Amino acid sequence: MSLTLKGRKVELLDHMQVINDLSNNSYDDAAKMAGDRIGETVSKGTIHRIARHYNKLKQKDASLTHMTEKSLRLGWACGRPMAKYKGAYPNGFLRRVDALMEVTDETKVLHLFSGSIQGRENEDTMDISEANNPTFVADARQQFPIETDSYDMVIADPPYDMQTTDGVKIDYSDKLWKTEYIKPYSWVKEAIRVLKPGGYLLALHHLVYIQPKGATRCGVVSITCGPNTRIRCLSIFRKHTAIEQKIASME
Ligand SMILES: C[S@@+](CC[C@H](N)C(=O)[O-])C[C@H]1O[C@@H](n2cnc3c(N)ncnc32)[C@H](O)[C@@H]1O
Repeated sequence: MSLTLKGRKVELLDHMQVINDLSNNSYDDAAKMAGDRIGETVSKGTIHRIARHYNKLKQKDASLTHMTEKSLRLGWACGRPMAKYKGAYPNGFLRRVDALMEVTDETKVLHLFSGSIQGRENEDTMDISEANNPTFVADARQQFPIETDSYDMVIADPPYDMQTTDGVKIDYSDKLWKTEYIKPYSWVKEAIRVLKPGGYLLALHHLVYIQPKGATRCGVVSITCGPNTRIRCLSIFRKHTAIEQKIASME
């Protein structure tokens, strides 16, 4: 289906100028610039439509390939977390992960941002808080104290926080964990590094994570825990094997 480009404001705008503005500005700023030019309010939706029509969407790879790429799409109805503290995994979540990823006693797993999780025999944990008694007490925003290509699976549950003082705002900081701001992608490169080639990264967040460099998306699982709880997303990526890394470096 081809997308048509109709509408009074769309027709008033100089499309090439809009595309040009977008190369250095956000949709919001481009909308403001376009509005100033025609003396009317222009929404960023209008700018987005123009950009899409000319195949010049910003973050095209991240947003459009997400819709078209072939990967598992699942929905899990988990129970509310049963732990006494807030922020624990949904009830039954790790059991479902084990089943989906076919985790066995041999699977070498790193629990990142592990909180209260105590890994099984073949599993390690990493958390900034010593009180959680992890295998590695470390800040995931920095280089991990772990060798490259060590794990079959890294499962991460980074903190994010909802703050309602000035409206609903998710700021990735921590009222709950009393730790500093975590940018959602600040730890991903290191998590990929410590995976064995062909190993899996699982990230539980309210964001659908962008596919990291050196890995391919293989699943998106929507996770609900019942009414009045936030939906979360488990993004699953597979680190490229040696041959895939070679091919990617040729592209
Ligand atoms: C959402 S909780 C994880 C809870 C865990 N899934 C559970 O069920 O208990 C986030 C964890 O990230 C840890 N954390 C916060 N900032 C961190 C950082 N910079 N590096 C490593 N861990 C961090 C916190 O100490 C907390 O234990």
